[in-house]
Amino acid sequence: MKFQFLFLALALAATPTHAFPTFDGSRHVWFAFPGFFPTFESSFPVGNGRVAASIYGGASEVLGINENSIWTGPFQDRIAATALAAEPVVRKMLLAGNLSEGREYAYEHMISNVTSPRAFSYFGNIEINFGHAEGEMTDYVRWLDTREGTAGVQYVFEGVTYTREYIASYPSGVLAARFNATAGGQLNMNISMTGLIEILSVTASAAQDNNTLTLRGSSGQSVDPILWTGQARFVPDEGAAVSASGTNLIITNASTVDMFFDAETSYRYASEAAWETEMRRKINAAFALGYDAVKSAAIADTTALLGRVILDLGTSPNGWAALPTDERLAIARNTSEDVQLSTLVFNFGRHLLAASSRPSNDGTVALPANLQGIWNNSTSAPFGSKYTININIEMNYWPAGPTNMVETELPLFDLINVAIPRGQSAAERMYGCPGTVFHHNVDLWGDPAPTDNFTASTMWPFGSAWLAWHAIDHYRFTQDKTFLRDVAYPFLSEVTSFYECYAFENDGHNVTGPSLSPENTFTVPLNESVPKAGESVDIAPAMDGQLMTEIFQGLLEAASVLGIPDSDPAVAAARAFLPTIKPQQIGSLGQILEWRVEYAEPIPGQKHLSPLWALMPGRAFSPLINSTLFDAAQVLLDRRVSNGSGGTGWSRTWLIAQYARAFRGADAWTQLGQWFALFPPPYSLYNTGGTDGFFFQIDGNFGFVSGVTEMLLQSHAGVVHLLPALPADAVPTGSVTALLARGNFEVDIEWEDGALLSAKVTSRGGGNLALRVGDGTREVLVDGVAYTGPLSTTKGTTYVVKSV
Ligand SMILES: *[C@@H]1O[C@H](CO)[C@@H](O)[C@H](O)[C@H]1NC(C)=O
Ligand SMILES: *[C@@H]1O[C@H](CO)[C@@H](O)[C@H](O)[C@H]1NC(C)=O
Ligand SMILES: *[C@@H]1O[C@H](CO)[C@@H](O)[C@H](O)[C@H]1NC(C)=O
Ligand SMILES: *[C@@H]1O[C@H](CO)[C@@H](O)[C@H](O)[C@H]1NC(C)=O
Ligand SMILES: *[C@@H]1O[C@H](CO)[C@@H](O)[C@H](O)[C@H]1NC(C)=O
Ligand SMILES: *[C@@H]1O[C@H](CO)[C@@H](O)[C@H](O)[C@H]1NC(C)=O
Ligand SMILES: *[C@@H]1O[C@H](CO)[C@@H](O)[C@H](O)[C@H]1NC(C)=O
Ligand SMILES: *[C@@H]1O[C@H](CO)[C@@H](O)[C@H](O)[C@H]1NC(C)=O
Ligand SMILES: *[C@@H]1O[C@H](CO)[C@@H](O)[C@H](O)[C@H]1NC(C)=O
Ligand SMILES: *[C@@H]1O[C@H](CO)[C@@H](O)[C@H](O)[C@H]1NC(C)=O
Ligand SMILES: *[C@@H]1O[C@H](CO)[C@@H](O)[C@H](O)[C@H]1NC(C)=O
Ligand SMILES: *[C@@H]1O[C@H](CO)[C@@H](O)[C@H](O)[C@H]1NC(C)=O
Repeated sequence: MKFQFLFLALALAATPTHAFPTFDGSRHVWFAFPGFFPTFESSFPVGNGRVAASIYGGASEVLGINENSIWTGPFQDRIAATALAAEPVVRKMLLAGNLSEGREYAYEHMISNVTSPRAFSYFGNIEINFGHAEGEMTDYVRWLDTREGTAGVQYVFEGVTYTREYIASYPSGVLAARFNATAGGQLNMNISMTGLIEILSVTASAAQDNNTLTLRGSSGQSVDPILWTGQARFVPDEGAAVSASGTNLIITNASTVDMFFDAETSYRYASEAAWETEMRRKINAAFALGYDAVKSAAIADTTALLGRVILDLGTSPNGWAALPTDERLAIARNTSEDVQLSTLVFNFGRHLLAASSRPSNDGTVALPANLQGIWNNSTSAPFGSKYTININIEMNYWPAGPTNMVETELPLFDLINVAIPRGQSAAERMYGCPGTVFHHNVDLWGDPAPTDNFTASTMWPFGSAWLAWHAIDHYRFTQDKTFLRDVAYPFLSEVTSFYECYAFENDGHNVTGPSLSPENTFTVPLNESVPKAGESVDIAPAMDGQLMTEIFQGLLEAASVLGIPDSDPAVAAARAFLPTIKPQQIGSLGQILEWRVEYAEPIPGQKHLSPLWALMPGRAFSPLINSTLFDAAQVLLDRRVSNGSGGTGWSRTWLIAQYARAFRGADAWTQLGQWFALFPPPYSLYNTGGTDGFFFQIDGNFGFVSGVTEMLLQSHAGVVHLLPALPADAVPTGSVTALLARGNFEVDIEWEDGALLSAKVTSRGGGNLALRVGDGTREVLVDGVAYTGPLSTTKGTTYVVKSV
C-alpha cells in the first residue's frame, strides 16, 4: 500500500524522463486535469490544523490560504438588554396558546438586532506564474494522499517534467512546497500574493537571499480589527536568480525551489512585533531544517495519526479503483459498488479532520474545524462559515473518538473555554441564571447570543448542552481523568446549573422554553393563535429533554469517577433535577413526539433529525437501552426518510449513522449511496450543502466517516458492539484496524461472508469489557472461552474475539 512512483523502463531511458505516478484507489484522490480556479470546490485541501491551503494546480498555480483566526472582526456583545424582562412574558404567551405572539415577542425583545456573529474569513492567494500555458501541458496529473496529508501536481511542458509537492506540517507549524523540473535551470516563477479585503501591505524582498513575500491584512474595523501577517520564503537551488519586482518575486533559471509559509494574527499575539517574531521563527526554523526533513517529520506525524485506522471494505469491481476520481464519482451517481471509493471518502474525511483541527502545541488557543473546516476562499462564506452548534460543528467531531483521532477534538474544548465566560454573561443577562449558555452559534470569540432572526433556529439555548455532551463523551473514549477534572466536569457543572435555574414547572415536570426543535416548523392548531401559522418556538421540545437527560447523567457519571460525593451541592442538585425532566412522549403514529403536543407538520421530511438526537448521537433510544423508545424513534426516522429527508449532505450522512444505530445496515448503505448520488461535486470529494447549487460544507464529510464507522463498531450503549449494522450484501468481506471504543478499547475487526471472522480488542486502560457481536444471537468466544458476561481486563492486553 506504500505510495510509489512507477517508472516505465522506456521513459527512464528516453528524454524527457517522465514518470506517471500510480495511485491506490482507496487512498489517493487524483485527477488528470487541473482544478478550475476560482471554483473553490475543485481544489485540494491541505492543512496543519491552523494554516491551510487550497491547491488548484493550474498552469499558473493558485494557493488559496487560510489561517483559522482570520475572521471578520472583533468581539460583539450581542445580548439584548430587554431579554430578561421578556422571557416570562413569552412563556406566558406560549402557555396560553398565543404561539405566534410569543415568537414575535421573543424575536423582538430577546435577540439582538445585530443578528450575526463574526464570520470566518480568508488570508488571500499565493499565485505563481511559471510561464506555462494550460493547453500545452501534457501527461498532467494531480493528487491528494489521504494518509500523508500531502498533495502534488505533475505535468510535462516543452519536454520537461515539472513537479509540485505540498506539505502541511503540524510539527513545524508551516506550509511547505517543493517545485522542480527535470531539466536544470528550466524553472521560472513569477510569484505574487493577493487578498480580498483590507490589504495593508504586500512586499517582495530578495534581500539577504531570504527571498520573501509578505502580506499584512486587517479585518477592516477602525477599532480592534483582527490583524495578520503572512510570509512565504522561497529557497531556490544554486544557479537561480531571484529579484523583487514591485510586489512580485521573480525567480529564474532554477531547478528546484522550496517554499515555507506561515501566517499569524492578533488573535493569539498582543502586538505585530510578537506575531511576526513567531511567524519568522517558524519559517526560519523550517528553512534551517530543510525541506526534506520538514517533509519527513510532517509525514511521520500525519501517518501516525491517520494510519491508526486502516479500513478495507473490499475490492471494487470492473477495475474502477484504478480510474481517476472524477470517473469514479460519475459511476457512483448510480451505484455504490465502488466500495474502495467509499473507503477513499472515509479516508478523505479523516484527512480533513487531521488537517483542520489539531491541539495547540505552544499554549495558545487552538480553534476547531468550522463549517468549511479551515478552507474558504471568501469573506462572506455560506452561513458565515461559523461554528454552528445545532448539529454541524458537533458532526465535525463525531469521527474523533470512534476513529481513534481523539486528540483532534481538543481544539473544540479550547473554544468552549473561550465561550464559557461569554455564556455566563448571557445566562445572567438574558435569563437571570447562574452557569453558562450558548445558543445555536458561536464565533472565535465565543459569542453565544442568539444568532440571525429566523423562526426555526434562533431561540434555542441548548448549543451548550450538546457541546457538554461532547465533553463527557470525550472522556469515555480516553478515560483521561485530568481532562475530566479540568475540562469536562467544570463545563458540565456550568451547563447543568444553568438548566436547573432556567427550567420551569409545567404539568408536573421541569420543562424548557422559549425554545425550538432545530430547525423544524409546526402548524399552529385552529384553537390557538395564529391558527395555521407556521411556528417553531414553543415549550418543551423533545430534544431539549433528551439533551438535559444526557448531560445530567454525564455530570453524575463524572462526579462518581472523580470521587465527588453525593453531598456536594452540584451533585445533589443534579441528582434531584434529573428525574424531574419531562419524559419523552409517543404520538398517534407510534412516533417520538417532536413537540409537547402533536402539531401538524408542514415539512415531515425535515432535514434536521433533532427529535432523534437520542438515537444518534445520544443513547437513550438505543434498542439495547429502551425498546419502547427505540420503536418510536424508528417510526419517526422512517417517516422523515419517506417524506424526503436528507436534503443536504450533512443530513444525508446523519441518516447513514441513524440507520446504523437502528442496526439496519442495508438501509444505512442505501443512504450512503444516496450521498454519492446527490452531494459530491463532479470534480471533488467535498461534501456540499445542497443539490441546488454546490457549496462546500465540511460536516457531511465527517458525517460520512461517522456513518461508516457506526456500521462496524458502536460503544454508546454500554457494550463494545462489533459489526452492529454491517451491510452484509454490499460489503460482505473486509477489515478495519484500531477503531476506538468507549472505555478506551482499541478494536481490530475482520469479517467474511457478512459475519465476524475475528476481532482483537486491546484494553488500553484496564476496566470492564462488555461485548456483543452482530445481532447478539451467536455464541461469542474470547480467547477461545465462551463469553458469558463482562470481563475484567488487564491494561495492555489484547483479547481475541470470535463468534461461532
Ligand atoms: C471562491 O469560490 C467560489 C465557488 O467556487 C467562486 O465562485 C469564487 O469566485 C471564488 N472566489 C475567489 C476570490 O477565489
Ligand atoms: C392571548 O391572546 C388573547 C387574544 O389576543 C388575549 O386575550 C390573551 O390575553 C393572550 N394571553 C396572553 C398570556 O398573552
Ligand atoms: C426580527 O424580525 C422581526 C420580523 O421581521 C422583527 O419584528 C423584529 O424586530 C426583529 N428583531 C430584531 C431584534 O431586530
Ligand atoms: C440596534 O439597536 C441599537 C439600539 O436600539 C441601535 O442603536 C442600532 O442602530 C441598531 N442596529 C441595527 C443594525 O439596527
Ligand atoms: C522533484 O521533487 C519530487 C518531490 O520531492 C521528487 O520526488 C522528485 O524526484 C524531484 N525531481 C527532480 C528532478 O528533482
Ligand atoms: C510578473 O507578473 C506580473 C503580473 O502579476 C507582471 O506584471 C510582470 O510583468 C511579471 N514579471 C515578469 C518578470 O515576468
Ligand atoms: C543557469 O543555471 C545553470 C546551472 O543550473 C548555469 O550553468 C547557467 O549559467 C545559468 N544561467 C544563467 C543565465 O544564470
Ligand atoms: C533571513 O534568514 C536567516 C537564516 O534563516 C535568518 O537568520 C534571518 O533572521 C532571516 N531574516 C529575516 C528578516 O527573517
Ligand atoms: C447513470 O444513470 C443515468 C440516468 O439513469 C444515466 O443517464 C447515466 O448514463 C448513468 N451513468 C453511469 C455512469 O452509469
Ligand atoms: C467560501 O465562501 C464563498 C462565498 O460564499 C463560497 O462561494 C465558497 O464556496 C466558500 N468556500 C468554501 C470552501 O466553502
Ligand atoms: C424542578 O426542579 C427543581 C430543582 O431541582 C425541583 O425543586 C422541582 O421539584 C422540580 N419540579 C418538578 C415539577 O418536578
Ligand atoms: C422506556 O421508556 C419509557 C418511556 O419513557 C418508560 O416508560 C420505560 O420505563 C422505559 N423502559 C425501560 C426499560 O427503561
